[in-house]
Amino acid sequence: MPRVFVSRAIPAAGLDLLRPHADLDVWADRLPPPREALLERARGCDGLLTLLTDRIDAEVMDAAGPGLRVISNYAVGLDNVDLAEAARRGIRVGHTPGVLTQATADLAFALLLAAARRLPEAERLVKAGEWRTWEPTLLLGRDVASATLGIVGFGRIGRAVAERARGFRMRVLACGRGPNTDPAGAEPVALDELLARSDFISLHAPLTPMTRHLVNRDALRRMKRGAVLVNTARGGLVDQDALAQALRDGHLAAAALDVTTPEPLPPGDPLLQIPTCLVVPHVGSATLQARDQMARIAAGNLLAGLRGEPLPHPAPAPEPLRD
Ligand code: GLV
Ligand code: GLV
Repeated sequence: MPRVFVSRAIPAAGLDLLRPHADLDVWADRLPPPREALLERARGCDGLLTLLTDRIDAEVMDAAGPGLRVISNYAVGLDNVDLAEAARRGIRVGHTPGVLTQATADLAFALLLAAARRLPEAERLVKAGEWRTWEPTLLLGRDVASATLGIVGFGRIGRAVAERARGFRMRVLACGRGPNTDPAGAEPVALDELLARSDFISLHAPLTPMTRHLVNRDALRRMKRGAVLVNTARGGLVDQDALAQALRDGHLAAAALDVTTPEPLPPGDPLLQIPTCLVVPHVGSATLQARDQMARIAAGNLLAGLRGEPLPHPAPAPEPLRD
């Protein structure tokens, strides 16, 4: 049987599909395998089932050796995998698109609403026993209805956020892939125009060399004063020092981050000290259904790769942001 290393215990829905067809070595710890362990356990494998917390590069592929045929990433994002290196070696790479779209769009909208209405500050006040009475000007937030939402990266998740925004009566701008076929009536604009016009900005682009620090000091300066930034994509899209500065000086009203660099942020990180910065622990796809379906898709990709067949959900060719 082909040998497969699974770098964390993914849901049984996926492992059960693999067991009859592969000699599985599953990393049982809650924490990811340290680098040395990853290299060691990859040795001699025909397939790897990996997580976004594993850096899968030439060194790992070398460690696995020439028998490695497939890398199945248990994530839609593929920034942790050196795709060019895998392609050069003829190793197939798969990911789990589609099944986490709605879950992630829900979380993006939850963060948008939480930041708009200052829920973390509000909850802290109540639980600290500091809330005295209804007040005319207590914790005033931002209206969402009729505000403009800018969606950066208009793939599956970006579009699903646009659909939600429409239900909340927002105006929607979008830049990135394919805004012309948008069912939710988003207006396609260049990034600079999106930054300048949006009251809320939500990031849904993949992390690539092109998109790294897309939200830098300059981009933040172009945003409206009082704008809100939501990131459920990848921490690397944002220059966090610049973001902390923009929040501290009040240029941005709030930020809500499901993703950061690194994950988790170290305890003393400035973003954790800023009351208008909401940070949650990379839970965009964290619903029972989404994670089960991701496990099934990751297993399907892995099995196809072991058989030498095209993967049902292969890594997409990288596409630059259009603007
Ligand atoms: C999660 O971040 C994913 O890419 O699936
Ligand atoms: C608020 O609770 C109101 O009734 O206006």
